[in-house]
Amino acid sequence: MSAQLVALVTGSSRGIGLAVAEALAGQGFAVAINGPAEDAELSAAVARIAALGVPVVAAPFDVTDIAGHEAALDAIEKKLGPLTTLVNNAGVGVLQRGDMMDVSETSWDRCFSVNAKALFFLSQAFARRLLARERPPLFHSIVNITSSNAVAVAEHRSEYCASKAAAAMVSKALAVRLGREEIAVYDVQPGLIATEMTAPVIDAYRERAEQGLTLFPRVGQPGDIGTLVASLASGRLPYTTGLTIPADAGMLVPRF
Ligand SMILES: NC(=O)c1ccc[n+]([C@@H]2O[C@H](COP(=O)([O-])OP(=O)(O)OC[C@H]3O[C@@H](n4cnc5c(N)ncnc54)[C@H](OP(=O)(O)O)[C@@H]3O)[C@@H](O)[C@H]2O)c1
Repeated sequence: MSAQLVALVTGSSRGIGLAVAEALAGQGFAVAINGPAEDAELSAAVARIAALGVPVVAAPFDVTDIAGHEAALDAIEKKLGPLTTLVNNAGVGVLQRGDMMDVSETSWDRCFSVNAKALFFLSQAFARRLLARERPPLFHSIVNITSSNAVAVAEHRSEYCASKAAAAMVSKALAVRLGREEIAVYDVQPGLIATEMTAPVIDAYRERAEQGLTLFPRVGQPGDIGTLVASLASGRLPYTTGLTIPADAGMLVPRF
């Protein structure tokens, strides 16, 4: 059997993660679908990927359970073979939008736990495995889904912004450490994407996009990020690592 590209996409039971899993499957990757629990949403996502004809497994685990990472990766590799690709996509928003003066420690800790700490330690567990074994001549990568808010302040979601800035720095540090191992690391920073996370505000975002907040006057779809991530993970940007890729329709291009 020829060597196979195998990806774990965290938070792929819906939204951007599911679109990433679909796009990777479209490129022939075997895919592990993850959500915090073994529920109907996860099963539906697995069925969707299975219909594309690639090997797929459900990998239910809470990414914040750092002690559980090894067992989770073991279970995936037992079924799909050695992982080549990790997409750290699982993320949470703030518990309550509002004045920075009112942010709770609970919301801060939740944002940092999922968006930054889990991304760091899951990347560590993934990379340790790769470093410990002979790897076939396949493209190996970590793709982190951070956010435009890693660099641009959203005043009413400051703890989310801070956690994404931390994740962006983790991406750079990983790229530095793993470069000598020929493992590429990318930081994809989505802007305004229509998902469950943004559902309460997407109409307002759409209006602002049409009024010029983004250079393309529209919000993005999960498939936009899926296609982008699949291109990166397939090695379509050869001789690159450590890149930060704004996937925001030009929202953060400086203008006056
Ligand atoms: N949508 C946007 O405009 C936008 C913009 C910039 C960045 N992003 C980032 O893109 C990523 C995906 O966002 P999305 O809009 O697709 O969000 P979403 O629709 O809320 O989906 C989030 C996914 O992550 C999973 N998840 C959450 N906590 C988890 C945990 N502890 N362990 C495992 N899985 C967990 C969720 O599963 P459950 O539902 O079962 O909890 C769900 O599958 C996030 O990192 C987000 O911050 C999104």
